[in-house]
Amino acid sequence: MTPTLNILDDLDVEGRTVLVRVDFNVPLADGKVADDTRIRAALPSITWLHERGAKVVLASHLGRPKGKPVESMSLLPAAAHLATLMNAPVVFSHDVSGDEVAALVREQSQTAIIVLENLRFDPLEKAGDDDLAKSLAQLADLFVCDAFGTMHREHASITGIPKHLPSAAGRLVEAEVNALRKLTNTPSRPFGAVLGGAKVSDKLGLLQDLATRVDHIFIGGAMAYTFMLARGEEVGASRVEEDQLDAAAAILEDAKSRGCAIHLPTDHVVAETFSKDAAPRVVEAIEDGWMGLDVGPQTLEAWSSVLAECKTIFWNGPMGVFEWPSFSGGTKGVAEALATSKAYTVIGGGDSAAAANTFDVADRISHLSTGGGASLQFLKNGTLPGLEVLQKAR
Ligand code: 3PG
Repeated sequence: MTPTLNILDDLDVEGRTVLVRVDFNVPLADGKVADDTRIRAALPSITWLHERGAKVVLASHLGRPKGKPVESMSLLPAAAHLATLMNAPVVFSHDVSGDEVAALVREQSQTAIIVLENLRFDPLEKAGDDDLAKSLAQLADLFVCDAFGTMHREHASITGIPKHLPSAAGRLVEAEVNALRKLTNTPSRPFGAVLGGAKVSDKLGLLQDLATRVDHIFIGGAMAYTFMLARGEEVGASRVEEDQLDAAAAILEDAKSRGCAIHLPTDHVVAETFSKDAAPRVVEAIEDGWMGLDVGPQTLEAWSSVLAECKTIFWNGPMGVFEWPSFSGGTKGVAEALATSKAYTVIGGGDSAAAANTFDVADRISHLSTGGGASLQFLKNGTLPGLEVLQKAR
C-alpha cells in the first residue's frame, strides 16, 4: 500500500459519524439480494467502524437508473440483507442527500448503521457534481471509500467527497490494491493473462498494455474470432467486430515484436444458431453458417499446460457462453487451470468471478477481485481516479 494512502487505522472514529462509500451494486431477484458477495466484502470495514463506536452512514449505487428513482433499483433490499449479516438494526434513508437526510442521521444513536438510497437516483452523482459531494460530506465527520468496484468512476461520491472530509481507504480497497499491485509491480514470471468476453473494443487499451508486460496472452470468448479473422483464419458466422480488425492485427504484430506470445483457440465448440439448446460440434476450422460459442478441448489442453508453467496468472472474461452447459467447457477448464496452478492467480471480477463461483473454484484463487472494470483499469494504469483523490485527501 502506498504510504500516502490513509487506511482505517489512521482515523480516530470513536464518537464520530463516518460516511462509507461501498459498492452494493448487487444482483436482485424477487426484491431480494441474489448474490451478496459485494455486501460481505464491505463487512470488515463496517464492523471495524461499528465496533469502535462510529455512527456508520453507508452510500452506494445499484444498477444504472439514469438519474431518477427506479423502484427495482432501490437499495432497501441491500439494507435489509446487511441487517441480517450484521445481526443489528439498519436504518434506511429513502433520500440520498439533503436536510431531511442530515436530520435523520443526526437523530440516530451513536451505534446506528444507516444506508442511504441509491446515489444514482440523483443525476448529480454520475455528473461528479461538487454540490452533491459537499452535501454528502456534511452528513459526517470522516469519509471512508470501500467501493473498490466503482473507483474507476469520477462520480461525486467517489472523487468528490474526499475533497471535503478527512478520508481513508477501507479494508476492501486496501486488500484489492495490495493484491492487484502484485500484478503491476514486478510480478513473478512467466506471467500469463487470459482474456475473454465479447468485445475487443472494451479491452483494446488493456491488450496493448499487457503485450508490453506479460509473457503469454490467451484470447478466448467472442473476442477470439476478431483476432482469428485479423490473422486470415475462417470464422464462419462467429461474432466479429469488423471495425476492430486493424487494431487486432496491430496488437498481434506488436506482441510478436515484444516476445509476448498470443494464443488463439485452435479448436472450437460451434453451433448453427445462438441458442442454449443448439447442437454443439467440436471443429478445428469453422465452416460457413457455424458460429464459435466456446473454445475446444484441444485448445484447453494446450493452454492448461502453458498456464501450469506460469507463476502469475490474471483472468478476465469467459471463454464461451458458460451459462449454457454445452458451451461452458472452456470457461470451466480455465477456472480449473487457475485453481490447480501454483501461480499467484487473480480473477478480475464480473463474469469470470461469477464463473469461479459457478465452477466452485473461488476458494482456490489467490485473489478474486470485486471489481470488473475497476480491476482492468487498475491493471492498465496502476491506479484509479478514486485512489488518486484519496492519496491527496487530508
Ligand atoms: C460494477 O459493477 O462494475 C461497479 O459497481 C460499477 O458499476 P458501473 O459500471 O455501472 O459504473
